[in-house]
Amino acid sequence: MSVLDLMNTPFVLPEKYRQMTTAELQQRVREIKETFGEKLYIPGHHYQKDEVIAFADDTGDSLQLAQQSASNKKADYIVFCGVHFMAETADILTSEEQTVILPDMRAGCSMADMADIHQTEAAWDVFQDVFGDTVLPLTYVNSTAAIKAFCGRNGGATVTSSNAKKMVEWAFTQKERILFLPDQHLGRNTAYDLGITLDEMAVWDPVTEAFEYDGDINNVKVILWKGHCSVHEKFTVENIKKLRQQDPDYSIIVHPECTHEVVQQADYNGSTNDIIKTLEQAAPGSKWAVGTEMNLVARLANLHQDKKVISLNPNMCPCLTMNRIDLPHLLWALESIKQNEVINEITVDKQTANDAIRALERMLVRA
Ligand code: 13P
Ligand code: SF4
Repeated sequence: MSVLDLMNTPFVLPEKYRQMTTAELQQRVREIKETFGEKLYIPGHHYQKDEVIAFADDTGDSLQLAQQSASNKKADYIVFCGVHFMAETADILTSEEQTVILPDMRAGCSMADMADIHQTEAAWDVFQDVFGDTVLPLTYVNSTAAIKAFCGRNGGATVTSSNAKKMVEWAFTQKERILFLPDQHLGRNTAYDLGITLDEMAVWDPVTEAFEYDGDINNVKVILWKGHCSVHEKFTVENIKKLRQQDPDYSIIVHPECTHEVVQQADYNGSTNDIIKTLEQAAPGSKWAVGTEMNLVARLANLHQDKKVISLNPNMCPCLTMNRIDLPHLLWALESIKQNEVINEITVDKQTANDAIRALERMLVRA
């Protein structure tokens, strides 16, 4: 999309959609879905609101959504109910004829924004000077297309929380060291589980352009980019201590985007999909405190009423950017297709997409 196109793009939801009742919004969405059939595909990430999930053709975590995008050849329009980096991934993995739409362009991800391509290229030069050609870049899919492309160009790959261990193991068959972008916590938790000690990991701060590391830099095996998820960082060791004092019968399960201390103190940790499966398989009457996004925790509590499911942090709120996608924005996107005036199209330029797909494919063949 050119700058001129961007300037002319109406990013703000037209007032009429705010005035409609929920029943009317739902009815119109249903009608458009019926009209388009398989030509329209609505994937929804598990952290989306219930009102949106109700209309999703498929739901999934980041890995499942990427796999579904790659295999869906029938849809002309993919209305992605998730955040910007997920819609970019869908655009990279689908054909040129398929149009990917994000119902609200403000649905970004603060973690993805923490690794900027210019900072990354500059840091890479430093790493080459310090370590020579011994570093393989891995990026969490929660990153911009430009960062995925950077990894693709440099022999690296993407990872998700479902396959991070497998991908880090693979990376060490390629090079002596890895750079893990942009989530330091997922990187640290994954490497630690594979037997890499904390003193073999250095944090790279892209703002000060310096390592946070005390020892001999030659001992470093994992360079962790100093990024994090502002949602998962809100779960604390204090939350765990308090809950265990109040009711020791709770099992605590957290996402590996939580800090290392929280993951170590929890009873279990796993990707969004692992958390969903664990609660499905849990015994009736069991009690669970969950450290992940609030829309999902509320849905799991509702779904498993034979178990007690609560948020590990009682003051938690949903991921604000995920929450930007709501029923009015979904209908706005769908009606724009119907009127042949598509809004909020996500397009990754060809060169970036070609490089990024190499990183994604290195993951998808091993997923
Ligand atoms: P997963 O879907 O890989 O568990 O990632 C969680 C997340 O934070 C998505 O934004
Ligand atoms: Fe980004 Fe965290 Fe929200 Fe996921 S939950 S979209 S990583 S801010």
